Amino acid sequence: MAICGSTKAVSTNSLYISAVTKLLGKTFEVTCFPSIANIPHFNPDLDLNNPPAAVEDLRLTIQQADGIIISTPEYAMGLPGSLKNLIDWTVSSASFAGKPTLALIASTQGEKAYHSIIDILTVIEAKVTAQHIPYAKAKINNDGLITDEDTLGELKTTVDLFVASMKNG
Ligand SMILES: Cc1cc2nc3c(=O)[nH]c(=O)nc-3n(C[C@H](O)[C@H](O)[C@H](O)COP(=O)(O)O)c2cc1C
Repeated sequence: MAICGSTKAVSTNSLYISAVTKLLGKTFEVTCFPSIANIPHFNPDLDLNNPPAAVEDLRLTIQQADGIIISTPEYAMGLPGSLKNLIDWTVSSASFAGKPTLALIASTQGEKAYHSIIDILTVIEAKVTAQHIPYAKAKINNDGLITDEDTLGELKTTVDLFVASMKNG
């Protein structure tokens, strides 16, 4: 299951999800989670007993997935609020615990968001594989083909590690 950290209709991070999907080949079916913009604001009062339907759907979808792909930009030196909000709804349900999770930070710079997402996914016990892709927009074309050889090579290695973590359960 793939989650795009950008709510833009035309998004660099969506293209990177396409690139990962191509690298995964036919062994895995990748389903993109509908926009993170549909997830309501996190509210601890509703978290345990009365979660919104969109949150129940999110938790079930993560539970049923063999692995999660997150590709996200950095906003204002951190993760986009919408993505952090989505993750906050999964803390009490432990949805990410033991879940193989590939995190890509595809941004202009992205250093802070890269370290942040590793910290966040680690604390919720995901099995994290991560890659930082600075100047991401210039390294991929509109068909989701990575044009920068070094980035493509590194992504192949990252995806192989992610696949291994799914196969190891
Ligand atoms: C509100 C806002 C804040 C941003 N802040 C950062 C930032 O702190 N660091 C960075 O590397 N890029 C920053 N960017 C640039 C985006 O990360 C970059 O344009 C990225 O490629 C967008 O990805 P997308 O096309 O998937 O939305 C910011 C963009 C926006 C709209």
